[in-house]
Amino acid sequence: MKVSIVVHSLSGKTRKFADSLFDRLTSDGHIVNLTQLETTVPIKGGSVRQKMDIKFTNLPSVNDAELVLFGGPVWAFGPSPVIIAAMQQIANLKGKSVVSFTTMGFPLKCMGGNAALAWMNRVAGTQGAKVLPGSVCCTMLRNLDEQIATETGRIAKLI
Ligand SMILES: Cc1cc2nc3c(=O)[nH]c(=O)nc-3n(C[C@H](O)[C@H](O)[C@H](O)COP(=O)(O)O)c2cc1C
Repeated sequence: MKVSIVVHSLSGKTRKFADSLFDRLTSDGHIVNLTQLETTVPIKGGSVRQKMDIKFTNLPSVNDAELVLFGGPVWAFGPSPVIIAAMQQIANLKGKSVVSFTTMGFPLKCMGGNAALAWMNRVAGTQGAKVLPGSVCCTMLRNLDEQIATETGRIAKLI
């Protein structure tokens, strides 16, 4: 299957999750393309609830992909505005499956992770995607590597 991974990551944790997905899906025989989003101006914070003008230098085409994995950190108790802007600008996800994944600081998913995932799922659904169960990994007081390994295995089995 052709898979696109589109990730926003400021400090590397969500990128680590994306790399784990890339490695696993590639070794399972899928053709995987990974893009870490770059913006025209550096964005170090913000919220999806505020109006932001976000432009990319490397927004990928996902036209060929049957499955798209969107990943980003939790910012301000919601998804990063950067990954949401990318999803909105990619726009058409009709006929594709989408899995969203996110990492967060706080140890409880109710402190932003669940809301972030719900937001990303809503955007993907609005764009015509078949939304598959996504993933939240916490960093504080938790073992991020273990969660990433578990969630990577779960996501790989969805396909
Ligand atoms: C601007 C900003 C806002 C954040 N807001 C939250 C938050 O509301 N809840 C939370 O659990 N973590 C929050 N975090 C922590 C990040 O979600 C967490 O460190 C994440 O794993 C970073 O991912 P990255 O390394 O891919 O950038 C915030 C981080 C930043 C930089």
